[in-house]
Amino acid sequence: MADDPRINRPTQVDPDRVFNFLVETPTREELIDTARGVILYLEDISVSFDGFRALNELTLYIETGELRCIIGPNGAGKTTLMDVITGKTRPDWGTAYFGQRVNLLRRSEPEIASMGIGRKFQKPTVFEQHTVHENLELAMESDKRVWTTLFCSLTGEEKDRIGEVLELIGLSELVGKQAGALSHGQKQWLEIGMLLMQNPLLLLVDEPVAGMTQQETEATAALLTRLAGDRSVVVVEHDMEFVRSIAKQVTVLHEGSVLAEGPFDAIQEDPKVREVYLGS
Ligand SMILES: Nc1ncnc2c1ncn2[C@@H]1O[C@H](COP(=O)(O)OP(=O)(O)O)[C@@H](O)[C@H]1O
Ligand SMILES: [Mg+2]
Repeated sequence: MADDPRINRPTQVDPDRVFNFLVETPTREELIDTARGVILYLEDISVSFDGFRALNELTLYIETGELRCIIGPNGAGKTTLMDVITGKTRPDWGTAYFGQRVNLLRRSEPEIASMGIGRKFQKPTVFEQHTVHENLELAMESDKRVWTTLFCSLTGEEKDRIGEVLELIGLSELVGKQAGALSHGQKQWLEIGMLLMQNPLLLLVDEPVAGMTQQETEATAALLTRLAGDRSVVVVEHDMEFVRSIAKQVTVLHEGSVLAEGPFDAIQEDPKVREVYLGS
């Protein structure tokens, strides 16, 4: 009787898969669904401030693992764009998705941050009184960390994570140094490290090399290049040499819309771009 073909058994369901689904927590990539290779979808985004259109039907897609540079003259809407992605500003119009599933316009700023969008503001905000190592501990994912840091010992995994991030940001030699005593560039890298402790899938960086020395600027280009691939990185920057040194794809914003998009050389040759930005 058990083999009677008329009895409708759920033969399509693979028992191993059911087991896995119950036992394994889906990854964040699975939850937000990046299977199509796109981490961020922005379509027809408009933002007005007192009738002035800071963003005007802006459409932009960022691929998984991509390093994208966004340039544009002052007032083009670059910071407003980051504010929309991170939930700080709500657009009047448009669509914003993180992966296939997460509607960013329905999420709060803290929710968006915890789902894996990290934002580096222009000004470094490290804890000056604490060491480099303590800063990374304080930035660690779990909430309990805030209360137990400096009193409880770290797990092996947490120590490994801090070691990896120190290596990435190039501050391994300075773990015990007080953050307040770091150079401007080192503070910026430490803050990027603090964001990395939360494992963002998408990292937004606003004008990272402003105020940096030439050497620091080059090191930052190398750092951002290293960070892409394992996560997506969007960099807003004015410094054209810097953009040239890191950029794969460049998006030029002008008056709240995408004016041009492509590899740096093509962008540089584009007459529209020369007129509004590079030519000036
Ligand atoms: N909160 C705000 N209130 C009013 N106007 C704003 C606000 N934020 C930005 N703007 C205006 O929107 C435009 C785009 O600003 P912004 O996104 O900061 O440009 P960018 O970062 O490219 O220099 C600017 O003209 C700016 O004055
Ligand atoms: Mg800005």
